[in-house]
This record gives sequence, structure tokens and C-alpha cells, in this order.
Amino acid sequence: MNIKDKTALVTGAGSGIGRAAALMLAEAGAAKIIAADINLSSAEETVQQIVSRGAKGVARRIDVSDLAALEELFAEADSAGGLDIVFNNAGIVSGPPQFPDGSVARMVKLVSINLTAMMAGTKFAVEGMRRRGAPGAIVNTASRAALRPSAADPAYTATKAGILMFTRSCADLKERFGIRVNAVCPAITETGMLAATGGSAPAQWLQTAMAQVRILSPEDIARAVLDLIEDESKSGEYILVDNEPAPAQ
Ligand SMILES: NC(=O)c1ccc[n+]([C@@H]2O[C@H](COP(=O)([O-])OP(=O)(O)OC[C@H]3O[C@@H](n4cnc5c(N)ncnc54)[C@H](O)[C@@H]3O)[C@@H](O)[C@H]2O)c1
Repeated sequence: MNIKDKTALVTGAGSGIGRAAALMLAEAGAAKIIAADINLSSAEETVQQIVSRGAKGVARRIDVSDLAALEELFAEADSAGGLDIVFNNAGIVSGPPQFPDGSVARMVKLVSINLTAMMAGTKFAVEGMRRRGAPGAIVNTASRAALRPSAADPAYTATKAGILMFTRSCADLKERFGIRVNAVCPAITETGMLAATGGSAPAQWLQTAMAQVRILSPEDIARAVLDLIEDESKSGEYILVDNEPAPAQ
């Protein structure tokens, strides 16, 4: 899909990978980008940067795990002309204490945000695109963690494996409706999320892993997201953006 003049919705657009993708969409000529985040002021900062790149930006506060509010957000976008591109990206990690010591409530929240909301976001996006009879590109943020077991955060790993398999299972939407759903699998990326693994600083297991690799930038991931949007051949696929070994000292 040619991004020029298209309308996009990005969740988790207030920071990290979501912000980088929103800005890259603006640079690629998108006409309008809805930057949605639970943190409205950070979404508004993203919108300022979108506007300075020549696109229209709209900030919306959304807790994606509030599915009625999420549906309303998509309905609003549909009545304003519809969405061509949706990046379902908002996500969280479990944080301390390590499994099995965290609460079940935290586990439920993790599943609601990382899995249920991404599946619902995909459904609402597909429904709107199908009603308009327009082609569409949807990208869901999974993780490198989706591809292998992780003792550090089993619940997070399960949600990411879930969204990856959901996305792969959407492959035939291209044949049926001309709508492509793909996933990006980032490895360790320099965002606020790294600190959240330990509460306020990266957990020890992550610090050990970080010392051994080149940490990715949010822009590294955003480039893969744009590849998935632009490459019309991709449906039900994923791009792994992996860390390379750290350069020798
Ligand atoms: N950073 C990494 O190393 C890494 C690796 C693999 C996958 N990911 C995934 O990338 C995605 C983006 O994370 P990031 O690394 O940019 O972290 P981040 O913390 O910088 O960004 C996450 C954004 O999501 C927002 N958010 C959190 N809960 C929300 C909710 N309920 N509703 C709406 N917005 C909410 C936050 O306010 C924040 O702006 C996540 O799905 C994450 O799991 C990150």
C-alpha cells in the first residue's frame, strides 16, 4: 500500500515504537494519523511532531482494554472517512515480582491489553475497511518473545505468542476482503518498556541480555512496520527485528 494520503490509527502512540511509527507514517506522506494512548499528554506531544512533518494529527485518550471505548474510537474514525492503516501496538509487561509471585489481576490486565485488545482492534479495523470496500493494512505488535519460551515473563510471552498466531491466522482476509494483517516482532528496543520490566529500572535478567547485544531503536521497528504496510504481498506474516551481538570492546 502506498502510504501517501492515507489515514492511520496507531495505539500506544505516545512513546517508543508507536510514536516512531506514527512519525514515520507522517514522513511517508500519510494525510492523517490518529495517535491513541492511555496517556493523553504524550499522545498530544506525538501529534505536535506529526503536524511538524506535514500531516494532520489527532490525539485520543484510550485504554485499549476498555473494549467499548476501543470500538467507539474505531466508529469515530469510520464516520470521519475511515481508516486505511491500523497499528495495534499498545502493550505492557508484567513487571516485578517474577512469576509465580505476581497477582492474577495483573495477568488478566496483561491479557486484556496485549491480546484481547489487539484482537478486538483487528476486528474493528477489518469491519470498517470491509464496510468501505477499501483495501487495508493492519499491523499488530508481537515480540521476539513470541517465538521462544521465556522464564522471565511467561504471561507476557504467552500474550505475544497469542497475538502472533492470531495474526498469522488472519492471512486469508487478504483473499476475502483485500485486507492484510501482519505482525512485527521486536527484540530488545530502547523504550520506556525496558525500565518497566524491573519496576523502575531494567530487571537484572534484562540487563544481562542488554549487555550482550546492540539494542534496537524504535525507528528500527517502525521501518519494519512500514515495510509490512507497503509490501502488498505480505498477509498473515511477521517480521522479526532481532538484536545483533554487541560490537567487541
Ligand atoms: N521495547 C521492547 O524491547 C519491546 C520488545 C518487543 C515488543 N515490544 C512491544 O512493543 C509495543 C510498544 O511498546 P514500547 O516498547 O514502545 O513501550 P512504551 O512503554 O514506550 O510504549 C507503550 C505505549 O503504550 C501505552 N499504553 C500502555 N497501556 C495502554 C493501554 N491500556 N491503552 C492504551 N495505551 C497504552 C503507553 O502509555 C505507552 O505510550 C508493546 O506492545 C510491547 O510489548 C517492545
